[in-house]
Amino acid sequence: MKVLVVGGAGYIGAHICKALAARGDTPVVFDNLSRGHTHAVRWGPLEQGDIRQEIDLRRAFEAHQPDAVMHFAAFAEVAEGEADPLGFWDNNVAGSLNLLRVMADAGWPPLVFSSTCAVYGVPERLPLTEDTLQRPINVYGRTKQAVERALADQAGAGGLRYAALRYFNAAGASPDGEIGEEHEPETHLIPNALKAAAGVGPAMKLFGTDYDTPDGTCIRDFIHVADLAQAHLAALDRLQAGAPSFTCNLGSGQGYSVREVLDAVERVTGRAVPFSVESRRPGDPARLFADISRAQQLLGFAPERSGLETMIADAWAFHRARWNLPAQ
Ligand SMILES: NC(=O)c1ccc[n+]([C@@H]2O[C@H](COP(=O)([O-])OP(=O)(O)OC[C@H]3O[C@@H](n4cnc5c(N)ncnc54)[C@H](O)[C@@H]3O)[C@@H](O)[C@H]2O)c1
Repeated sequence: MKVLVVGGAGYIGAHICKALAARGDTPVVFDNLSRGHTHAVRWGPLEQGDIRQEIDLRRAFEAHQPDAVMHFAAFAEVAEGEADPLGFWDNNVAGSLNLLRVMADAGWPPLVFSSTCAVYGVPERLPLTEDTLQRPINVYGRTKQAVERALADQAGAGGLRYAALRYFNAAGASPDGEIGEEHEPETHLIPNALKAAAGVGPAMKLFGTDYDTPDGTCIRDFIHVADLAQAHLAALDRLQAGAPSFTCNLGSGQGYSVREVLDAVERVTGRAVPFSVESRRPGDPARLFADISRAQQLLGFAPERSGLETMIADAWAFHRARWNLPAQ
């Protein structure tokens, strides 16, 4: 099967390309390389182009005639979205509408779409099920919610079948160390804690230690990128088999506190993580973790590598090589 992986030069998309190729599918990456890396495109051709330019997408579809589409391309840094709402709506929403138009003309290949737990906002109840009321509290979450609504409307009108996968916090690297997380700037907890431990980044900032959680720091749900990749393959297979559209949470179903993450980073790396305690950031819920029963049921989802130390060890192996740190 030929799969157009839009945003496939980025962190999660590259891992899905690797998983597609490992089972004999051909990933064709479509990416403008604004946030991705050519060195992460290893398992099929790269079509350089921008989803905001419909003509670029048409060129890629004509050249490759994909059997399915996976759509990872977006701006995803929350603070950047608050500073540049129009840029986020243009890239994440208008860009996605371009993609849908081109998919319509290509006879509606099935679509797997990267959504996010940010569509939920601050939850009233936990764990978060897919039916939890959506009240996104930032521009990023609202743009993803808007795309989900466009997908649902179009699927209702006919033609499109899709899977919207709402990831919690992706983490880790490929277990063989080949690819990993290379955001620039990096805003995610685990890579930044590793940077601080390795001395290649600043001390960590702990935003709030007075939350109503056992150790006072926020609790989040992390999911290994390799587990995410397996879920994407299963979602694709389900659509290819003719299933109707569906939406699923993808997390581990378990929460870890920021302090637990830092402690685990210290255990895995054998290095101290320097940190400072800061006041709470507005809009950070105390706890977020997923109910993953729908993914288990529809996709046979079993997050095997999403134990905290495994995720951190895989990320550490990747970064240690990248930063030329001596083996322990
Ligand atoms: N990383 C996470 O924890 C997480 C959590 C929830 C949801 N998501 C979603 O998953 C997707 C992938 O996230 P990621 O962490 O791999 O991000 P990433 O930035 O590493 O990858 C996104 C890729 O899309 C490309 N891209 C962006 N705009 C483009 C455009 N206009 N045209 C063509 N290519 C474009 C970038 O160059 C990059 O290669 C995103 O949609 C994100 O919102 C990520």
